Amino acid sequence: MSLIKVTNLTFAYNVSHDNIFENVSFQIDTDWKLGFTGRNGRGKTTFLHLLLGKYEYNGRISASVGFEYFPYEVADNKADTIQVIASICQDYQQWELLRELHLLDVSEDVLYRPFYTLSSGEQTKVLLAALFLKENSFLLIDEPTNHLDLNGRKVVSDYLKSKQGFILVSHDRTFLDNCIDHILSINKTNIEIQKGNFFSWWQNKERQDRFELAENSKLKKDVRRLTNAARKVSDWSDQVEKTKIGGKRASGVKPDKGYLGHKAAKMMTRSKAIEARQQTAIEKKSRLLKNIESADNLKISPISYHTDRLAELENISIFYDEKAACTDVSFVIEQGDRIALCGKNGSGKSSILKLIWGEQINYTGLFRKGSRLKLSYVAQNTAFLRGNLTDYAAAVGIDESLFKANLRKLNFSRLQFEKDISDFSAGQKKKVLIAKSLCEQAHLYIWDEPLNYIDVISRIQIEEMLLEYRPTIIFVEHDRTFSENIAAKFVNI
Ligand SMILES: Nc1ncnc2c1ncn2[C@@H]1O[C@H](COP(=O)(O)OP(=O)(O)OP(=O)(O)O)[C@@H](O)[C@H]1O
Ligand SMILES: [Mg+2]
Repeated sequence: MSLIKVTNLTFAYNVSHDNIFENVSFQIDTDWKLGFTGRNGRGKTTFLHLLLGKYEYNGRISASVGFEYFPYEVADNKADTIQVIASICQDYQQWELLRELHLLDVSEDVLYRPFYTLSSGEQTKVLLAALFLKENSFLLIDEPTNHLDLNGRKVVSDYLKSKQGFILVSHDRTFLDNCIDHILSINKTNIEIQKGNFFSWWQNKERQDRFELAENSKLKKDVRRLTNAARKVSDWSDQVEKTKIGGKRASGVKPDKGYLGHKAAKMMTRSKAIEARQQTAIEKKSRLLKNIESADNLKISPISYHTDRLAELENISIFYDEKAACTDVSFVIEQGDRIALCGKNGSGKSSILKLIWGEQINYTGLFRKGSRLKLSYVAQNTAFLRGNLTDYAAAVGIDESLFKANLRKLNFSRLQFEKDISDFSAGQKKKVLIAKSLCEQAHLYIWDEPLNYIDVISRIQIEEMLLEYRPTIIFVEHDRTFSENIAAKFVNI
C-alpha cells in the first residue's frame, strides 16, 4: 500500500476563465478499486491528465507509483496485436498474458491479427490486459464501457473486480457497483471520498440531500419567526423610549425613569439574543444545499403521424465492401413504439439506424418509410462537432434559445456557452446532440447510444422525459437500467 497525495491543487485551462479545481486536497490509497463519479465537465478526465503530468498546475501531487491511462493511444494499429501489447509492456510472461485474455473472454488468435481488425470491444479488452501486465503502475481508466455491449460490460467489470489499484471513471451504474470498493466524487462545491460502491454513495447522497432540504425549510421558518420577533422587540423598545422621553403619561402620572431604564435594558438584551440566533440560523442555512444537483424537467416535442405504421424493414442485409454487417433483419416501427435495438458489438445496429435515418447504405431486402416522415437523429459519434453553439444551432436549423435552455437544464453553465464545442468534455458533446434532438419536432426519434459519456443525473433526467412525453423512438443503448426502463419492444439483431 502507498498513498497518492493531492494537496492544494488548483487548475484552469488557459483558454477559459473558470478554475476546474480550486485548492482541493485528498488522498488515495493505491490498493483501492476507486470509482470516480461526477457530472459531465466537472474535471474527471482533466484530473487524470494532471496525474499523468500532462498539464501544469498549482499545488502538489505526490505518488510512488507510475500512472497508465486508458484509452491508450495505439501508435500503429496495422501492427499485430501482440506487437501492440509489446509496445505497452515489455517484461511479461506469455502465460500471464494468456491468463488475462482468458479472464477477459478474448480468444488467443487476436494476438496475431492486425490490431485494427479487432472489434472495438476486443480492442478495449486487449489494452486493459496489457496495461494491467505492467508492474508497479496505477491504472487510470477513463470510461471503458462506451464500446462494450452488455456481455462485454459484465466481463470487463468482473475482470476489474479481480484487480486492484485503479481509478475507474464510468457513468454506468451496474458496471461501477460490481467492481469498486471506494468512490471519489466531484460534487458541486467539493471533492469527497467514501468507502463503498456507487449504490451506497447514491443512497448516502440522497439521504444527505433530503436531510439538507428538511433542515433548510426548518431554518427558513426559524429565520422568518426570529425576524418577526426582532421587529416586535424593536417596536416595544421604541415605545418605551418614547415614554421615557415624553415625560408625563396621558394619565398624568410621571413615569418611573428607573423602572423604564431597566425595562429598556432588558429589551436590548433580548433583541441582541434574537439577533444572534437569527444570525446563526442564516449562517447554518447558507451551508446547506450547496451540493444538491439541479435537474430541471426536460421536454421533447413529438408530433403524430397520419397513419400507424411509420417504417418497415423486411429481410434487410447491410453490406460494407461485400462484407455483411447484418443479415435478414425484419421489424416494423409503429406510432408510439419505443424500440431497443439489441445485439453484440459489430452486429450492425448503427447501420440499421443510419438506414432508417436516410444515409447512403448498401443494402438488400425491402425498406419502406412513410412519406414526409419527420425524423430526428442522434449519432453515436461526436467527433465531428466543432465551432461555437450559436453557429451550430444556425447550421442545423434549430431555435438557439430553446437549444441553450435545454443545455442549461443538462447542467451547462453560461460560461460553457462561450467555449468552442471541440473543447467540451466527452459528455458535454453528447449532450449537445441530445439537446438538439429535443428542439426538433419529429414523428420518429432515432438515437444511437444516447447515454454514452452522459452523467447519471442526466441519464435519469432523460429517462423521465421519455416516459413522460412518450415519443416514438428507436434506440441502441447498452445501459441496462435505461433500456429496461424505456423500451416497450426489443428487436434482437
Ligand atoms: N483541452 C481543453 N481546453 C479547454 N477546455 C477544456 C479542455 N478539455 C476540457 N475542457 C473543459 O474543462 C472542463 C472539464 O472537462 P473534463 O473533460 O475534465 O470533464 P469530465 O469530468 O471528464 O467530463 P465527462 O464526464 O463529460 O467526461 C469542461 O468545462 C471542459 O469544457
Ligand atoms: Mg471525461
